[in-house]
Amino acid sequence: MTDQPIYLKTHDEVAVLVLNRPDKLNALNTDVWKGIKKFADEVAENPEIKVMILRGVTSAAFSAGADISEFPTIHATPETVKQSEETTRAAFDAVTSLTKPVIALVSGYCFGGGCALALACDMRYADRTAKFCIPPARLGVAYTLRETKRLVDLVGPSKAKEMLMGAKVIEADEALACGIVTRFFEVDDLERETFAFAQQLCNLSQFTIRAVKTIVNEITAGETEDNVVSRRLRAEAFEGPDYREGRDAFLEKRKPKFRYR
Ligand code: COA
Repeated sequence: MTDQPIYLKTHDEVAVLVLNRPDKLNALNTDVWKGIKKFADEVAENPEIKVMILRGVTSAAFSAGADISEFPTIHATPETVKQSEETTRAAFDAVTSLTKPVIALVSGYCFGGGCALALACDMRYADRTAKFCIPPARLGVAYTLRETKRLVDLVGPSKAKEMLMGAKVIEADEALACGIVTRFFEVDDLERETFAFAQQLCNLSQFTIRAVKTIVNEITAGETEDNVVSRRLRAEAFEGPDYREGRDAFLEKRKPKFRYR
């Protein structure tokens, strides 16, 4: 097993990005934030990879959040604050701009920056040990607008305020009910079910999947009508190989073999 604080492994067409600081409950230090960007960019560029799963190395934690032991140094001066914000921003952007689906596999603690990272993923598959909390009020910091918006988009303004103002810990069943968790499994089933869904995504049209992600991102960014992006994707679909294959496979009563990468 590697001692790198974050590493990427692949299972055929699925990449698994592993947060690997088990002694610190996968607290996100500068090396990990930089690794998230580096590996997400690698996944973006690798045509063999269709889906990314992001997880903690053990079931104790997805991540207990930003590494607080770094705070005295990274918050020492306005310049170091700016540098550290750029590093975390680049990591979030690398995940959200990845057109391939990203699934957070969550068990144990999913706190602070770890929770923000899970919310930046397209889906969160969790088991009953998962606990979510965003505690800026315990630290006296102001939470970023982008990460607040992501939470508000999922749970609504009132629940978001309760979580952020009250540093409330949300257990898995409540997280499922309020939309933080996309799907909930028994502890023994989480890994198998997450990989099964990842595989299902691999078998479907990557053109459609990436178009869905792009269009949902347009909507959460404020678009309410078809725009140049959605019209271009619609037009490209009818010109592309996946539409012809999907249509012909249905008519010929066979399984489609999608080729889009
Ligand atoms: N930053 C740095 N180190 C962290 C950490 C973080 N966010 N969260 C946990 N750790 C470290 C602890 O310092 C401890 O290290 P040590 O054994 O060298 O002392 C180790 O991880 C285990 O944590 P511990 O607190 O002993 O585990 P616990 O099961 O009793 O509690 C938490 C788990 C998540 C409730 C608790 O660790 C916690 O509150 N962490 C901070 C969460 C937070 O505020 N995150 C937001 C940061 S912006």
